[in-house]
Amino acid sequence: IKHFNTNHSLAGQHWVITAGPTREAIDPVRYISNHSSGKMGFSIADAAQSFGAKVTIIAGPVNLPTPNNCTRIDVQSAENMHEIALAQAVNADVFVACAAVADYKVAKISEHKLKKTSSNDAMSIALVKNPDIVASITALKDKPFTVGFAAETQDVEHYAKGKLVRKNLDMIAANDVAKQGQGFNSDDNALKVFWHNGSKELPLTAKKQLAEQLVALIHDRVQND
Ligand code: CTP
Ligand code: CA
Repeated sequence: IKHFNTNHSLAGQHWVITAGPTREAIDPVRYISNHSSGKMGFSIADAAQSFGAKVTIIAGPVNLPTPNNCTRIDVQSAENMHEIALAQAVNADVFVACAAVADYKVAKISEHKLKKTSSNDAMSIALVKNPDIVASITALKDKPFTVGFAAETQDVEHYAKGKLVRKNLDMIAANDVAKQGQGFNSDDNALKVFWHNGSKELPLTAKKQLAEQLVALIHDRVQND
């Protein structure tokens, strides 16, 4: 990992970072979501701004303060995040997809609160696929350097490399969420980072430290691209 000599190594660059979960409405009082805390994405945003980048965070519903010098756009659903991400990516140099986007949304959001029925013990909700936000960023003609994340519980390297290729990413940071004390909602994390002709392990440490290491690694790859 390269260590920066000045605070302004990323000066002039615009970084766009998605963070946190998305929330998919079922009816006016219920939703589908996940356990993402947004800590990793917010730490990356903070690290990038501390190195001098202009940073925009596109945040799902999280309970975190906005890091200094960052612009924050709050969103709810994946569709909402998709729309904002496309608008922001147009003038981004680096796009980091840290959000845990819900893969599916409710096919038809109920206008009124769904009621229990006395006749049925079982119920089901029809879901349809959400757009793949990061894949639509890499499909842009003038795409930013794009980094994805992969939270896996098995075959971490295999699945992460598959996503790197399938989503046409420049880099992917994988974490094994089955391991204790790392990943979702934890303050610590470990990452295995892959790009087309290389990889690097960033061992278990505080997300704040890990974010600085990852930002330095991204910067390194951007320059060598
Ligand atoms: N991602 C995205 N839009 C989606 C789903 C995922 O932008 N609708 C991004 C995530 O932010 C992450 C990367 O794609 O950077 C990988 O997300 P992940 O959930 O691991 O991959 P999926 O393609 O959804 O595959 P699966 O959940 O089946 O493992
Ligand atoms: Ca997914």
